[in-house]
Amino acid sequence: MQNVDVLLGLQWGDEGKGKLVDILSPRYDIIARFQGGPNAGHTLMFNNKKYVLHTIPSGIFREEIINLIGNGVVIDPIVLMKEIKNIEAEGIEVKKRLLISKRSHLILPSHRWLDAASEAMKGKDKIGSTLKGIGPAYMDKTGRNGLRVGDIDQTNFKDKFEQLYQKHLQLLKFYNWNEINEDQIKEWFESIEFLKQMQIIDGEHYLNEALSKGKKILAEGAQGTLLDIDFGTYPFVTSSNTITAGACTGLGIAPTKIGNVFGIFKAYCTRVGSGPFPTELKDDLGELIRQKGKEFGSTTGRPRRVGWLDLPALKYAIQLDGSNELIMMKADVLSDLDTIKVCTHYHFNNQVIDYLPYDLSNEDIIPIYQELKGWKKDITHCRLKSELPAELLRYIEFIEENTGVKISYLSVGPDRDQIIKL
Ligand code: GDP
Ligand code: IMO
Ligand code: MG
Repeated sequence: MQNVDVLLGLQWGDEGKGKLVDILSPRYDIIARFQGGPNAGHTLMFNNKKYVLHTIPSGIFREEIINLIGNGVVIDPIVLMKEIKNIEAEGIEVKKRLLISKRSHLILPSHRWLDAASEAMKGKDKIGSTLKGIGPAYMDKTGRNGLRVGDIDQTNFKDKFEQLYQKHLQLLKFYNWNEINEDQIKEWFESIEFLKQMQIIDGEHYLNEALSKGKKILAEGAQGTLLDIDFGTYPFVTSSNTITAGACTGLGIAPTKIGNVFGIFKAYCTRVGSGPFPTELKDDLGELIRQKGKEFGSTTGRPRRVGWLDLPALKYAIQLDGSNELIMMKADVLSDLDTIKVCTHYHFNNQVIDYLPYDLSNEDIIPIYQELKGWKKDITHCRLKSELPAELLRYIEFIEENTGVKISYLSVGPDRDQIIKL
């Protein structure tokens, strides 16, 4: 039985994963985050309220559903504590619904400082990191120096911390970084005490046992496929595998258990931070879409860069993820436009290609667009496919023809209700 479905972003993040996980979660017993950390910001909207989750899976507002933070996630206990307290303030018993894998790694305050120091040193070549300590925490994980959630109960935890912290202080000297804040260390230890009250488990055993009992799991991705450490627009990427394969390593689930892969994308593209973006709109139209789509980072508040839909990039992501169902978001944002452009190919090295070349950053890539007619209608109140304008149905069909994959849901606004099954 392939009872693990995966939902992940096909672009550069912020596709609307949080909203869709929240919508789909009643079909599942367990929602499990498999990678990334508090660099993520997943927005949910219902009952006229907006919630942004950074570490907690987006099934947390549904009763009877277990939410697991998997081993592939890096956790900042300070951020997690605040997040838990905020949701508890809504009357939700987070401790009952939330499980944390012993094998997830901890982000220390000094990981955040190292992130900032590394970006400062890179100057104009900076990644545009969220500065949440993600890169340095994953470096310590793969460098075999990291602290894991399962370590917090061990008698030598303070020693392990001290060893790593001293190493970080040495590294910070190399960066000439002086903004050391001991108060943050104190706060971090307080949050570790808070973490001890949570249900800390062997995530891989728990999930595999649940599967053997016929339970259904939805694995929730963070970031997006084009930010994947191996296949994204390196070096302008995050430090984890954001693709479907990451769900296996990030949860301890075998590839043979994976069923549906929901690939989610916006009707256009956005990117926050540095790095190549072939279809970027640096003009008034880009600004218009940014304002209409409220394209400002959920985690950092930075303005998101905006551009047309990029089919070569989308096809690449679908291939890497094995997405068999697509979900298109934010179609409502394009409703005012007379025409909508879609990049179908690139001009590259005097050739016309329809795939992503190795290094997007150093090469001259000129997108080739096809223009489609806009629908010029407010669609935010539509709830049925039959209510959608013909031009939008054509836009959907065009993407399906080019990718070879069906779009099964269309999102027409930020609210939980604003979704159409196609
Ligand atoms: P995530 O990181 O993939 O979960 O996405 P974010 O939450 O960072 O960004 C998506 C943003 O778009 C949020 O502010 C959502 O409330 C909003 N959103 C989601 N779906 C739609 C939609 O269909 N239309 C509009 N206008 N906004 C949407
Ligand atoms: P969600 O899950 C959009 C981007 C950062 C930066 C690069 C590396 O909400 O879709 P990092 O902090 O990981 O070192 O930053 O990746 N980035 C995201 N962009 N959505 C995200 O998460 C992101 N997480 C990281 O802006 O360019
Ligand atoms: Mg986001």
